[in-house]
Amino acid sequence: MVAAGFLLMIYNVTTVVRFIRDQRDVITGKNETVLNYVILAFVVCFAAVYAFIFFQNFEEMSIGIILLSGSAFVTVVLQWIYHLVGSIKANTMNMAEALSIIIDARDPDLRGHSRHVQELVVMMHEALPEQQRRTLNKTNLEYAAIFHDLGKLGVPESILNKPGPLTDEEWQVIRKHPKIGAEILRPVKSFDDIQDWIKYHHERADGKGYYQIPPDQIPLGAKIVAVADVFSALLMKRPYKASTSYDECIAVLKHCAGSQLDADIVDMFCAIPRERVLACSDVLAESHESSDVDWSAAAGRES
Ligand SMILES: [Fe+2]
Repeated sequence: MVAAGFLLMIYNVTTVVRFIRDQRDVITGKNETVLNYVILAFVVCFAAVYAFIFFQNFEEMSIGIILLSGSAFVTVVLQWIYHLVGSIKANTMNMAEALSIIIDARDPDLRGHSRHVQELVVMMHEALPEQQRRTLNKTNLEYAAIFHDLGKLGVPESILNKPGPLTDEEWQVIRKHPKIGAEILRPVKSFDDIQDWIKYHHERADGKGYYQIPPDQIPLGAKIVAVADVFSALLMKRPYKASTSYDECIAVLKHCAGSQLDADIVDMFCAIPRERVLACSDVLAESHESSDVDWSAAAGRES
């Protein structure tokens, strides 16, 4: 029984390690970090004590039962907390995805765009080199993708959906949307780390973006969102253009590599199998098919 209790404690140690590793994102990353390591130290000590008692050939049945019950209780509590945090994180992501519908509803033809960019960045995160994949949190990247155009809520609809070419003044207003998005998220302290990814998602590899910051100062998260954003915008059907084919989209990305877009990220994107990239577009079809709402009418425009 002491051996079983020891094995359960080892399992508890792995649970706490997984728990700490999975907390490194915008939702839980700032929470109780020290406490996490205190709990880890406790379960490691418990496991050591169980091992010590086991190797002492301790045979007292009642104490064995108490030790096994104790480790089982710790297992249940840790699993409960682990799943509670997991469901909170899943629900928070679902809320963010629901909010993305509001962002995209400013332009009904862009319905599903933010979710599409989210799917693309998750796919791109898997394709990153090992070192970058470990340092760039996938969940953070998902939130940056979902909220990359949040600032368009602050751009008048008359400019956003203007049928003709925009004036210089109107372009000035459009160019404010990355900053507005970062400002909207500012009160959410846990989003501090990704505000710059949103603010700089229109920066260019040649330094001629909205803020004209040097390419080496553009955050990796912003570079990834930028490539996914351009690919999604190209692929989507718009009133003024048909849907662009995969091959044409890839040709445009390659053409923009090193000028508008980061060349390394474009290379990485183009190396991902075509079927994998196009599978991300399912979310666009779902967005356009699953709703009975006439978004054009809802937005006060003619269908
Ligand atoms: Fe944007």
